[in-house]
Amino acid sequence: MTFLPQEIIRKKRDRLTLTNDEIRQFAFGIADGSVTDGQVAAFGMAVLFNGMTLDERISLTLAMRDSGDVLDWSDLDLPGPILDKHSTGGVGDTVSLMLGPMIAACGGFVPMISGRRLGHTGGTLDKFESIPGYNSRPSNKVFRETVRSVGVAIIGQTNRLTPADRRFYAIRDVTATVESIDLITASILAKKLAAGLDALVMDVKSGNGAFMPTPESSRELAECIARVANGAGTRTSSLLTDMNQSLAPSAGNALEVQVAIDYLTGKDRPERLDRVVRALGSELLILGRLASTVEQAEKKLATALTSGKAAEIFGRMVAALGGPTDLVENPTRHLPQARIVHPVYPEVGGFVTGMNTREVGLIVLRLGGTRPNAIVSIDHSVGLSRIARIGDAVGPDRPVALIHASNEDDAAGAAAALRTAIAVGPDQPPDSAVVIDRITGAQP
Ligand code: URA
Repeated sequence: MTFLPQEIIRKKRDRLTLTNDEIRQFAFGIADGSVTDGQVAAFGMAVLFNGMTLDERISLTLAMRDSGDVLDWSDLDLPGPILDKHSTGGVGDTVSLMLGPMIAACGGFVPMISGRRLGHTGGTLDKFESIPGYNSRPSNKVFRETVRSVGVAIIGQTNRLTPADRRFYAIRDVTATVESIDLITASILAKKLAAGLDALVMDVKSGNGAFMPTPESSRELAECIARVANGAGTRTSSLLTDMNQSLAPSAGNALEVQVAIDYLTGKDRPERLDRVVRALGSELLILGRLASTVEQAEKKLATALTSGKAAEIFGRMVAALGGPTDLVENPTRHLPQARIVHPVYPEVGGFVTGMNTREVGLIVLRLGGTRPNAIVSIDHSVGLSRIARIGDAVGPDRPVALIHASNEDDAAGAAAALRTAIAVGPDQPPDSAVVIDRITGAQP
């Protein structure tokens, strides 16, 4: 039968439920170009307005996953499960850099296909690219061999994975349909499930630095992702975590790699970051059946750190993907350093009472740490370090942060913006939870 995209759009426009076959035809049509840009845009808008049932969401996710290569690890006979973690993105979110090697140290295999920055949030791939020589687009052979021999490889998306998502996302971006939870879910999960996973843990951020605009929409996305992923056959939980302040004390590409190395080697384990890493790690070890209780999982993760195994795996992954062989031992020899480092002191002393986290991400962007567009290249050295936490005392001898910039003008602009983005008052606010909730995706 001739495939008529307009009939599928009409059905969704009229709030009818699409069949699995209809959704697959449409998704494959996006990938092979037989559906026009106008039709993709109309479909996206119809979904945004009228939503999808759980079955439709699962069909769209699987169809977009199957529009390109789906990785298959079975021929490698790996002695552990294929596991991954994904975050909806935030500021100072260095979790993947540590969690990948920690999970590998606990017996999992982690083929992590990560992305670049989105809006004000940093991208894992940009962070790794601050390491000289690191190849974020290795051949499939090198990728598979690194996962097999090291246990983890963190790389960028290839052109052969989920072509339907690549085209659909680009059209959504310019037709005001990015905000659909149905479409976000399918887009994120299609890419993740194309890596051939046994289990996935999602870190859905909530707060003023999160991708989703309200706590309610973050929760809805967390629930939707967990239900759809489980429905699509991949054991998945979502953790809802706080993004009302930078998660790590540094934000910026090379600076965040340094945070990860300090964490893995035990030099410094910032408390909020540590809580998120351990919560996501425990969840993933349990989903991957490498631990049966939270206590057991926490113990394994602690051993991965104290034994030095996770740090060693991080170093081996970097070397296997073309980076220096002694990055963990000598990070400052290899990571780019900014020319100018200035402390920023508050106008009046007191306690940090709040942070406009989105603005903090934008300050890093303006310093050159993330791309304003595809043409301008990144200065990996710039960003912020020693960012004060909410509740910290700041004053004439304790800055709100250090600015790492390439010139004085940028540093001055960032300092002024930072004084506005970080609120300081006389009363110390109470500590807030960093892991807000755990959502398993079971049907209500
Ligand atoms: N990230 C994605 O990969 N897709 C979306 O639709 C939104 C965020």
